[in-house]
Amino acid sequence: MRRRGRYGTLPSRKVTQLNLVQLRTRMRSSASTPGTGSGSCGSHVLEDRAARAVRYLRVSLTDRCNYRCTYCMPDGHQEFGPRDQLLRLEEVVRVCGAFVRWGVERIRLTGGEPTLRRNLVGLVRELTALRGEHGPIEVVMTTNGQRLGDLASPLRAAGLHAVTVSLDSLDPDRFAAITRRGRVADVIAGIDAALACGFRGTKINTVAIRGFNGDELGATAAFAWERDLIPRFIEIMPMAGGELFVPGQLMASADVRAAIAVQVGGALEPVDGAPVGGIGPARYFRVTAGAWRGRVLGTIGAMTENFCGSCNRLRLSATGQLHGCLAHDDAGDLRAALREGGVERLEGTIRAVLGTKRDGHGFHLDGSGGPDKAMISIGG
Ligand code: 5AD
Ligand code: SF4
Repeated sequence: MRRRGRYGTLPSRKVTQLNLVQLRTRMRSSASTPGTGSGSCGSHVLEDRAARAVRYLRVSLTDRCNYRCTYCMPDGHQEFGPRDQLLRLEEVVRVCGAFVRWGVERIRLTGGEPTLRRNLVGLVRELTALRGEHGPIEVVMTTNGQRLGDLASPLRAAGLHAVTVSLDSLDPDRFAAITRRGRVADVIAGIDAALACGFRGTKINTVAIRGFNGDELGATAAFAWERDLIPRFIEIMPMAGGELFVPGQLMASADVRAAIAVQVGGALEPVDGAPVGGIGPARYFRVTAGAWRGRVLGTIGAMTENFCGSCNRLRLSATGQLHGCLAHDDAGDLRAALREGGVERLEGTIRAVLGTKRDGHGFHLDGSGGPDKAMISIGG
């Protein structure tokens, strides 16, 4: 069976065959339902059947971007229209406050490009003031780095914990080609500004693209290691109904590691024990020989090294749609819950979304099976 998606005709997804992870909210205290204001409230933890708690919320602040990465933004992508479709910043704070009371300990701001959202610094200040069960939460951000030169210092002062910067090539021409308008020198200046004002644990995310940057993955890792940053290499995924996906461009994480081992002159071995940078989709490896011996890199292989089974996150779009999975389109409308209902409706909507969180994605290596939503609208 074929289905006609927003971006073309694709084989139908086998959603019905997916084994749903029945996530449930478990009442951790008998206190009242959590409020979305600042008053005292009870504490629920969002937890799945295997007693894995949802500790991590990704919050997209806009679907706009100052870049146009070829694998991210479909041609003809329509930015959100009227501003009132977007969650207002105070609504973002209210929703995040509720999640924190339900056990979320880390909030990642994403986009589009989050630095385009007006009053980002004020938002970060408010979010970092939220207190969870175990004290302050971590607020972190993924950015393309273009505006970090100006924003790193005020964001750091506002309490932002860490940044992850996307960087697909060190070569100015390649970088301009993949981003369709970016300047790599600005991004490097942004990374150096982040370092200079005290950000630690900065990660560099590189989408590995065969035929584009496969020959410079080692150089990109070295660029990161020179600055004590953590390089991570991501498999390209068929978002946007597969419209932007070119199967030949997919570089499997195993191939990424093999290429980097050759390029940096040292074999890689898995890092034992706790993963660097906390629990997440990345698998970490250490260089065992050569000039970079002891250095660590991550690979994120959604296509060939599925990690859905350990997924501990939810994703909120800029319009307030809560997605249980990156790879599926179903979502719960938290904006309506906030604007038209009360705390109970918010909680009910979140519970419903948790109930649809899958234990696997439907991505296929030919580019089929992914969601209609584009990465630009959900931020990774
Ligand atoms: N596949 C994999 N990663 C992607 N990103 C954007 N689109 C894709 C895709 N199709 C990455 C960006 C950035 C993060 C927000 O998501 O490069 O690092
Ligand atoms: Fe913008 Fe990041 Fe998408 Fe590139 S990958 S268009 S920088 S949101």
